[in-house]
Amino acid sequence: MALLEIRNVSRRFGDFAAVDNISLSIEAGEFFTLLGPSGCGKTTLLRMIAGFDLPDSGQILLDGVDLVGIPPEQRPVCTVFQNYALFPHMTVSANIAFPLKMAKVPADQIRTRVEEALEDVRLTGFAARFPHELSGGQRQRVAVARALVSRPKLLLLDEPLSALDAKLREQMQIELINLQKEVDITFVYVTHDQGEALALSHRIAVMNRGNVEQLDEPSRIYSYPRTRFVADFIGTCNLLDGAIASVDGASMKLDVPGLGLVKSALPSEAAVGRKGTLALRPEKIHISAEISTDTAENHFKGFVKELLYLGDVTVYIVQTEGGTTIEALLANSAAGRAKFFEVGDMVDIAWQFDAGHFLYE
Ligand SMILES: Nc1ncnc2c1ncn2[C@@H]1O[C@H](COP(=O)(O)OP(=O)(O)O)[C@@H](O)[C@H]1O
Ligand SMILES: [Mg+2]
Repeated sequence: MALLEIRNVSRRFGDFAAVDNISLSIEAGEFFTLLGPSGCGKTTLLRMIAGFDLPDSGQILLDGVDLVGIPPEQRPVCTVFQNYALFPHMTVSANIAFPLKMAKVPADQIRTRVEEALEDVRLTGFAARFPHELSGGQRQRVAVARALVSRPKLLLLDEPLSALDAKLREQMQIELINLQKEVDITFVYVTHDQGEALALSHRIAVMNRGNVEQLDEPSRIYSYPRTRFVADFIGTCNLLDGAIASVDGASMKLDVPGLGLVKSALPSEAAVGRKGTLALRPEKIHISAEISTDTAENHFKGFVKELLYLGDVTVYIVQTEGGTTIEALLANSAAGRAKFFEVGDMVDIAWQFDAGHFLYE
């Protein structure tokens, strides 16, 4: 049995369905992420799991027990918010001890558990400090410790790192992965950041407009997006619209207006005339000054329309003869070389026939 089961849950505000008939289950011990753009319903779903809001329809079961009707403080669920929500006038240890005091846990037990929680988040020695004497990352670690100290079955985290700068965020991501392993508590994590979701999660539910578009492991979400929305939202993706022009063994030719015929791996249920989109990651595209003779590859001539030098890699936007623009990513690995091509250079872009992933319309 799954630890948490969400069954046909909907939440409407007037005519608008913020969460639209979502069903999913989360296993004990998982690091599970709800990922989607701002406004897609992530917080609304999380608030219903926590008990701060109620579904209009559907059920939320924890260990098989329906949570509807159980107030938030009686659910074995804790939430960490983006803005820490620490008590400014209390020390770190008093902040962490607070939920235990409310629950009337004996003082000696409180002391031990606060010490353990401080150790879990690597803040031993900071017990007597006040929130204003801590960095943003440390404050967020206190918030996590305060949530963990009640030993919930489920820890909900709503964009907990979004107020931190990029470097600190990366460090906190690593800490969260380790922490989750150590404490062995199921995490339900909310973010709009694809990179963060891919890095942290065992499984991801990609949400769009109150629905789950795909629920999968990170590598599958990235390599086999099931919808155009997922392909576009998770990292950068070339999306080439076209129709199947011919089928030949394990491959097919797609007719892509503005580009030409593109050889691709055969999707299931392929038939001439069926329309869809070829999703092609920029890092799968080779870009070179010479025409390659590898027949497994697709080749198109074009010129560099724009480029974006990012240090370790350069993004090239290539305009093909037919007018389609394709984005390619090239590692700047050659020593002393900042980039390989300049705007206006004629180039050959190529990709293996099985580099893309075809999505039916
Ligand atoms: N209390 C509310 N009243 C009216 N609309 C709401 C309320 N809470 C959320 N919404 C709307 O529901 C949608 C989903 O919101 P939310 O769950 O906060 O999105 P996310 O966390 O994914 O950014 C948004 O369009 C938001 O404006
Ligand atoms: Mg939100």
